[in-house]
Amino acid sequence: MTATAPSATPDIHRGLNGVVVDTTEISTVIQETNSLTYRGYPVQDLAARCSFEEVAHLLWYGELPDAAQLGEFRARERALRPLDRTTADLLARLPETCHPMDVLRTAVSFFGAEDPAEDDDTPAANRTKSLALLAKLPTVVAADLRRRRGLAPIQPDTSLGYAENFFHMCFGRIAEPEVVRCFEISLILYAEHSFNASTFTARVVTSTLSDLYSAVTAAIGALKGPLHGGANEAVMHMLNEIGDPSRAEAWLDEALTSQRKIMGFGHRVYKHGDSRVPIMQEATDRLVARAADPEVTRLATLHAALRHAMITRKGIHPNLDYPAGLAYHLMGLDIPAFTPIFVMSRIVGWTAHITEQLAHNALIRPLGAYTGPGQRSVPNLG
Ligand code: ACO
Repeated sequence: MTATAPSATPDIHRGLNGVVVDTTEISTVIQETNSLTYRGYPVQDLAARCSFEEVAHLLWYGELPDAAQLGEFRARERALRPLDRTTADLLARLPETCHPMDVLRTAVSFFGAEDPAEDDDTPAANRTKSLALLAKLPTVVAADLRRRRGLAPIQPDTSLGYAENFFHMCFGRIAEPEVVRCFEISLILYAEHSFNASTFTARVVTSTLSDLYSAVTAAIGALKGPLHGGANEAVMHMLNEIGDPSRAEAWLDEALTSQRKIMGFGHRVYKHGDSRVPIMQEATDRLVARAADPEVTRLATLHAALRHAMITRKGIHPNLDYPAGLAYHLMGLDIPAFTPIFVMSRIVGWTAHITEQLAHNALIRPLGAYTGPGQRSVPNLG
């Protein structure tokens, strides 16, 4: 039988590049000013003046909290931080050869399996689940970091803020205020970024009326990739590979010639520089200045040299992962924990979008233009 020719190819938007799929009230990049706003507030102003908890409240409830609302929000988050024994034991049994993002993905999936209200998708139930995830994810990340160092977990401290408590659970001490502030700025900048790949993944899962844990588990999987959140780890691997600042230009030439993607550079939305980078770079520079250490100076010089070479050579600017990767290293955090830290922050954006998706849901189901063989008969295989 003669094969039927495939029909004409329609207009295709590979990678959904430039496609607007829905409305959102949560955040936007204003192209004219190259600025990112959360619920209307410029993110650099939020990073300069707010705590991460205040920004989480803003993203979830639409407004910054007053003192009483913040007090209640903090008290509820702090009470939810501990892991139950079953979860802690389960996560401790996962092979250390797996990436910490696998641990986090497993943890969220397990939280869902344990929750009798898993399939309750009312706004109130999802708010409770979102807050519990926000509270527990740092406990998982810190325990896993310590396990890989051969150390016992440290229980959360309810007297400490979100960022301070993370350092306490990782290292048994609170980092200096400058370090904690830099970390908190990174959390604020990472918290939300409209319809990025992982958030869109969460919205796709939610659009089928699946549960919040399934959506977040899938989003963690999407964030893990080096073209998305995994880039903050890849930045440090790349800097370690280059080694000496004097090698930056030659390394870049060779990498570009062999069609390598330079990690921490480029962005689907920002073509003239990521609006979050200047404030993160300033905070990272403050860590470099306070360290006054030749090894830190070498890394910072290399970081600046590669940035300069990439902008000059390709006109491609760094994204948030470029300064954040270096900052986390300077804070003494292990490279495999960098993307999990991104999750600790982006959980806010994901869950805000899950709520918004459910509020006016439409199943997300695009089309593909078929380019395979035309219809044909199955041959006789006997
Ligand atoms: N290194 C080398 N070339 C690059 C880079 C890069 N980092 N980014 C873009 N380009 C080049 C592309 O090769 C392409 O060149 P061509 O037109 O000659 O083919 C051109 O710039 C356009 O790039 P696209 O890949 O089409 O841009 P896209 O919007 O699809 O990709 C992406 C954006 C995936 C982020 C890309 O810039 C990249 O791979 N960057 C490195 C990974 C990274 O840092 N990801 C983190 C993103 S931000 C975040 O998740 C917080």
